Amino acid sequence: MYIWKNPRWFDAEKRQEQIDDHVMHTRKARFGNIELDEDRKKEEVLRHFNRVAPKYDFMNTLLSFGTQYVWKRAAVRKLGLKNGEAVLDVCGGTGDLSILAKKRVGDAGRVVVYDINRAMMQAGRKTSTHAAIRRQLAYVQGDAEFITFPDHTFNAAMVGFGIRNLTHLRRGFSEMYRVLKPGGRILCLEFSRPVNPLFRWLYDFYSFNVMPLLGELLAGSAQSYACLPETIRMFPLPDELSLILNDIGFIDVSHTSMTNGIAVAHVGTKPGRI
Ligand SMILES: C[S@@+](CC[C@H](N)C(=O)[O-])C[C@H]1O[C@@H](n2cnc3c(N)ncnc32)[C@H](O)[C@@H]1O
Repeated sequence: MYIWKNPRWFDAEKRQEQIDDHVMHTRKARFGNIELDEDRKKEEVLRHFNRVAPKYDFMNTLLSFGTQYVWKRAAVRKLGLKNGEAVLDVCGGTGDLSILAKKRVGDAGRVVVYDINRAMMQAGRKTSTHAAIRRQLAYVQGDAEFITFPDHTFNAAMVGFGIRNLTHLRRGFSEMYRVLKPGGRILCLEFSRPVNPLFRWLYDFYSFNVMPLLGELLAGSAQSYACLPETIRMFPLPDELSLILNDIGFIDVSHTSMTNGIAVAHVGTKPGRI
């Protein structure tokens, strides 16, 4: 008889393996349970998103039972965007967060979807929902670890479910800090560990059994959806992520847990006045 063993959430030491110091010291990077040479993670991540791009929005909506939109709306609201502001959506993918931001900054505002993967941005541009807003977004292809904008350009910078994919996540946050104007705000929306042990057990079962199966049946790749839960279990817990953001220089860092901690939105501010 098959008895399913609940996979362990990694401990603090193991979670370090997705952080810059460890990656640079060992020259090894992790993409879920796969260990790669530091300089190979980027191409592996590119390949992954090339594979999932055509069905990315459909699969995310299905796998999260539509909750992703609730999380995204709540998270963008926390940025407190104002009319006319400039916003950078790092690892912006198909542009969900950008659409929400654009609605808030209005015609006078500017929102840039910034992603290394052309297929992801194209999948978003081709989508018919919110077509008018999508046409008002700017799309820039580039690496989040080397953002191609000058210092002090944006009022807000956000990253949704993307920072885990970087080889050097602290570097990504530092780049977001650099391109923010003094007084600018950061938002990081990421998956995390559910708080309630029973809920966590159910979530683990779903993540490691149902998600890869649906990935295979509906998107033709179990592997693409199997590595996602692994990367989440190696990601810093909310308090650890707050410390990283503080260390980079952000102040007033706080976080909000959603759906028992499955998703967490961190916000912070770059010191100074605009
Ligand atoms: C899980 S998707 C998130 C997309 C979107 N933010 C959302 O919330 O639906 C992660 C995105 O990060 C992008 N990405 C991964 N590594 C990147 C890098 N080094 N620089 C810029 N984008 C990157 C991927 O191409 C992908 O579109």
